[in-house]
Amino acid sequence: MTTILAIDQGTSSTKAVVHDEEDGVVAVAEEPLRPDHLSGGRVEQDADAVLRSVLVAGRRAVTEAGRAVDAVAVANQGETVLAWDPRTGRPLTRALVWQDGRAAGICAELAEHREKVAHRTGLVLDPYFSAPKMAWIRRELTTEGVVSTLDAWLLHHLTGEFVTDAATASRSLLTDLDTAGWDEEMLGLFGLGDERLPRLVDNDAIVGTTSAFGAEIPVGGLVVDQQAALLAEGCLEPGDTKCTYGTGAFLLANTGTAPVRSAQGLTASVAWRLRGRTTYCLDGQVYTAASAVRWLQELGLIGSAAELDAVAAEDSDGVLCVPAFAGLAAPWWRSDATASVVGMTLSTRREHLVLAVLQGIAAQVCELGRLVEEGLRPAPATPAPARARARAGAARPLRVDGGLTRSGALLQAQADLLQAPVEVYPFPHATALGAAALARLALRPERELADVLPPWQPQVVHRPRWEPERAAAFRSRWQAAARATLDLGAGA
Ligand code: G3P
Repeated sequence: MTTILAIDQGTSSTKAVVHDEEDGVVAVAEEPLRPDHLSGGRVEQDADAVLRSVLVAGRRAVTEAGRAVDAVAVANQGETVLAWDPRTGRPLTRALVWQDGRAAGICAELAEHREKVAHRTGLVLDPYFSAPKMAWIRRELTTEGVVSTLDAWLLHHLTGEFVTDAATASRSLLTDLDTAGWDEEMLGLFGLGDERLPRLVDNDAIVGTTSAFGAEIPVGGLVVDQQAALLAEGCLEPGDTKCTYGTGAFLLANTGTAPVRSAQGLTASVAWRLRGRTTYCLDGQVYTAASAVRWLQELGLIGSAAELDAVAAEDSDGVLCVPAFAGLAAPWWRSDATASVVGMTLSTRREHLVLAVLQGIAAQVCELGRLVEEGLRPAPATPAPARARARAGAARPLRVDGGLTRSGALLQAQADLLQAPVEVYPFPHATALGAAALARLALRPERELADVLPPWQPQVVHRPRWEPERAAAFRSRWQAAARATLDLGAGA
């Protein structure tokens, strides 16, 4: 029986969870972070503040738990990057957050390589991913030190190692999807061919030790936050799908041990690599979920996210929102897209606007869910029973977690639009629990994946209340609104 300190280093906060195999979660500490949203689609974080939040939250959780911890697991936000000095550990730049769009120009310069990049890496040439922002740092800010994802810098501070994991690396545009290793050609394409690269390890590796939280303990179970949640929610079979509603909303589906490249604009990456064996996932992103809710708050339409359900109207009275506050990701991939609200009249009230934003988030997630379903549908040559199973899979439940799952209005809209049950994960720490499971595998390689995951039953299941026709009519109006906002973005 092991006790793990799992650090979930996210965009808007760092959460530290102490999880004991027998007693469950015994301590939680959270340190809020406020990324700076600057003009021109730039989003930055103070790297030192992120490190402080990791240390403060981790120490508080260990003290509160009042028991020995066997290992530290670290989940990270994925595509956030910085340059730093490997001798001193000092940041040489601020961290450019995954939402930062400033490297769009670099992607435009490389547009002729779009297809090759997509095939090789499974990703789309977009500033969301790590490499364009790393290239921008090298071009515009500094040629000194190393440039890496934020996890590698944090792990250097914890262990002295220069290391990242296979799942995080697969979000960089710098790895080969099939081998899950660094790709020389991609590194060259982004002008990063001469960079010192972190050692790339399996997600169930022990990478070093740390005394940052008290006694010297192993550090292992490194992973991207979204993949950690996929694991925690038991999405172990191809087709199992989850969505995490955090700063953004991220839908991921397990695709098994062979990569499935999306023809529909989704992205494919490593879900986890355990004992050298890779499991893949397909994913799609909604860049602004809780950040769209925070926008409602800043406008004074709600006092806090806790008020969403009390304020949201039963019906939006024709108001539609495309919450593209930080551009649109899969399947549109338009970092220049902006948000829009249409269908307002003089009788429109804040209640309608609040519901429209929630429905807008749900509508984007719904588009992603439908594309995953298409991407995983067996080809026509597949025997009929398998096709029938796949059709039945159309109503496959969506497992959900994250802070915004406290909004029943959001999840009901999700079930209505997707026309599928939405199962709410009962613990508020899916990411941390996924990372903790990986640390357990790292400590005891003889254990099986299914047996290190905390068992769970949905806290609540939201079932569709809308008729399929109503859902289809909403989707086609919302898609038209999304097309219109994209057209406007193109002229901006
Ligand atoms: O890809 C970015 C995503 O993983 C960040 O997640 O929880 O920090 O919003 P979160």
